Amino acid sequence: MGKDTKQKLGFCEGNKCACLMFLVVVGAIAAVVCVTLLVEDIRDIYDHGENNSSLKWWQKTIIYQIYPRSFQDSDGDGIGDLKGIISRLDYFEYIHVDTIWLSPFFESPMKDFGYDVSNYTAIAKVFGTMEDFDELMKQAKKRGIRVIIDFVPNHSSTEHDWFNRSRHAKDDKDPFWDFYVWNDGITLANGTRVPPNNWQSVFGGPAWELDSVRDMFYYHAYLTSQADLNYRNPKVLEKIGEVIRFWMTKGVDGLRIDAIPHLFEAKDTSLNLPEPEPGEGPDLYLYTQNQPEIFDVVKQWRKIIDEFGSDRFLLAEAFGISREDRRKYYEAGSVPFYFQLIKAKARCCATAACLQGIIQEGLDISGSWPNFVIGNHDNLRIADSMGQKYADAMNLMLLTLPGTPTSYYGEELGMKGGDYKGLPPKDPKAITSGNLNNSRDSERNPMQWNSSTNAGFTSGSPWLPITKNTDYKNVNVESMKTDNTSSLNLYRRLAEIRQLPAFRTTNIVFPDKVGKVLVYERYDDQTSYLIVINVDSSPQRLDLRAGDITTGVRIFSTKSVIEERIELGNVFLQPGEGVIIRMDD
Ligand code: NOJ
Ligand code: MG
Repeated sequence: MGKDTKQKLGFCEGNKCACLMFLVVVGAIAAVVCVTLLVEDIRDIYDHGENNSSLKWWQKTIIYQIYPRSFQDSDGDGIGDLKGIISRLDYFEYIHVDTIWLSPFFESPMKDFGYDVSNYTAIAKVFGTMEDFDELMKQAKKRGIRVIIDFVPNHSSTEHDWFNRSRHAKDDKDPFWDFYVWNDGITLANGTRVPPNNWQSVFGGPAWELDSVRDMFYYHAYLTSQADLNYRNPKVLEKIGEVIRFWMTKGVDGLRIDAIPHLFEAKDTSLNLPEPEPGEGPDLYLYTQNQPEIFDVVKQWRKIIDEFGSDRFLLAEAFGISREDRRKYYEAGSVPFYFQLIKAKARCCATAACLQGIIQEGLDISGSWPNFVIGNHDNLRIADSMGQKYADAMNLMLLTLPGTPTSYYGEELGMKGGDYKGLPPKDPKAITSGNLNNSRDSERNPMQWNSSTNAGFTSGSPWLPITKNTDYKNVNVESMKTDNTSSLNLYRRLAEIRQLPAFRTTNIVFPDKVGKVLVYERYDDQTSYLIVINVDSSPQRLDLRAGDITTGVRIFSTKSVIEERIELGNVFLQPGEGVIIRMDD
């Protein structure tokens, strides 16, 4: 490769190969992000002094997901709360994270730990008060921390006043008559009432429940206590719009829309799920997921949040969607979470080829802004799904990929999930489905702050215990702060490296031949960085020379804090080791 060219040419793996041509430049057109920032009054309030660049704040940030129940308890009831989060805000400055996303903290009977909302504009007592929330916003803004909140529009709790009114409505003159998805069902010859069809709930069992008050069935994608709102009713949209305005007025910077693929069900309730084709699994949500009407509603929500400034962020929890639907979420003004890396181990053993394929699929969005996620409250922690050995390397990958990364709390410590085998599950998904393997308790284990009893999470008895397997005496913020080589300090350095201009672009290239090591290059006009991650279980030696570029500086390694000049022809990586090499030019 010519010295002063920035051609992305081949890297060699092992000593077998000759240098290979790099072909693909994914999302290289930075123009896409050269969106002119609109000048609005509101920006004065929410501007964090970043408008010297063409990127929006959410294109430059790391999103850190907090599961409020498990982050920090302030009052000793064993359940995390808003005051607890306020007391930890300095931590985000420390780890260079400037956006937090809070899972639901709204009034709720907590059947699905807050994803069953009984009042969208009130705070659950267990999490605190509206004053606490206002204080959280104030303190966050003071520190330049953006706040995204969860928004759960698909369903409300059956304890919501709307549901109560709807089940008591006598006829369609009542404004709440059609607020939920009601159906008479079918009356069999013997007089038995059965649901109108065989649609299934995500948490197991039929998706229809006979309500004894109204004597009709209502549809629920999740628990029987989570009734789906009827988005074919404009009054529902109106009420939900008010909810959005309420939180926008409070100054939240964005919404993460929960369970959006379930927003609509097929109109024709006589449709039954077909028998699966031989050799194929059933398509359980054929009529209840990814219906075409979703996108118009997302557009309407985008319009509402735009009343408060065009830089408010809309993130869609869109799982199991096609490439085409992904495009439609973007087009509607939202960013659909890209979840496939979470499943890498199960999908294809998380080999280098597997990871590269998943990443390329995530980038196949025709110039839209990418995003990646490696953990959340619904999936095993990385240290458990991939193995502890690979936890730091996966943070390295997440934070060096193009687009916006989302980190789940505790992942910066490489923290393991709780070991709750043998204990009765708390997660309704495990309880209703009768399958303990479905339990999400493990990844919801309390944050480990220090080595004291209960890891500094609570002075009381934690709602989920801190278990031995997590090695919390060592794996905790306080202890890890003092160790340069800890996962926490590696994460902090990565968060800093992310701020380098090359990582702010969407430029990335992969070798055209993948071996056992995941390799990609990130670059801008000035500098190229090689990201090299050994996801294999044995050590690997690589030849990464690209044309006549034969040397570089290893600016980061998950195994060493020493910056080192290296020969690209002889790069050695331990299993689970990941490095960043600044290439000489
Ligand atoms: C998706 C959320 O992530 C999950 O935790 C919840 O149980 C369901 N939506 C239902 O709201
Ligand atoms: Mg508490």
